[in-house]
Amino acid sequence: MSTNSYDSILVSLREIRDSDLESFFAHQMDEEADYMAAFTKKDPTDRVAFDEHWRRIRNDKKIILRTIPVNGAVAGNIAQFEMFGEPEVGYWIGKEFWGQGVATSALRRFLEIVTVRPLFARAAVDNIASIRVLEKNGFRQTGKEKGFANARGKEIEELLFRLN
Ligand SMILES: CC(C)(COP(=O)(O)OP(=O)(O)OC[C@H]1O[C@@H](n2cnc3c(N)ncnc32)[C@H](O)[C@@H]1OP(=O)(O)O)[C@@H](O)C(=O)NCCC(=O)NCCS
Repeated sequence: MSTNSYDSILVSLREIRDSDLESFFAHQMDEEADYMAAFTKKDPTDRVAFDEHWRRIRNDKKIILRTIPVNGAVAGNIAQFEMFGEPEVGYWIGKEFWGQGVATSALRRFLEIVTVRPLFARAAVDNIASIRVLEKNGFRQTGKEKGFANARGKEIEELLFRLN
C-alpha cells in the first residue's frame, strides 16, 4: 500500500507539550490554511492573543486537546470544546502534512477518546477537505448557517455536522 494512501496512515495522539505551541502558531499563521478554515482569529499573527488563547484552553478541564505527531514532528492539533452549549470538535493540520490522511486518521483516533454523542462540527461551505474528514468519520450534515468569517472579511456559509 502506498505510504500516502488515506487509509494507510495511522496517527497516534498525545497530550500537548509547551514546545508544540511554536508549530501550532506557525500553522495558524499560514495564510492558505487561515483562508480555508475561514472562521479564524481576527489577527492570526498576534502571538500575545495566541498565547493567551492556548493558556486559557489548556487550563480548561472541560476542553480535550491532543497533539498529532507524525514521524516525530508536530503535524497539528485536535480539540473538543463547547460551542453554543454543545460539544464540538475542531482540528488543524500544518500544510506540510496535508493530503496524507492525517486529519482523517487523527479524528478517528480522537473519537475513541471523546465518546460524547451527539458530537458536532462545522466547516466553511468551501472547505472540501474538512468536509471529507468529517464525512469519512461518520458525521452527517444537518444544516447550514451564515457567519462572519474573519479570514474572508465577510459573511459566508458554514455547514453544520453531527455525529450520533
Ligand atoms: C482541512 C484539513 C484538516 C485536512 O487535513 P488533511 O490531513 O489534509 O486531510 P486528509 O488528508 O485526511 O484528507 C481528507 C480528504 O480531503 C481531501 N483533501 C485534502 N486536501 C484537499 C484540498 N486542498 N482540496 C480538496 N480536497 C482535499 C482528501 O482528498 C481527502 O478526501 P478523499 O478521501 O475523498 O480523497 C487541513 O487542510 C487543515 O488543517 N486546514 C486548515 C485548517 C482547517 O481548515 N481546519 C478545519 C476547520 S473546519
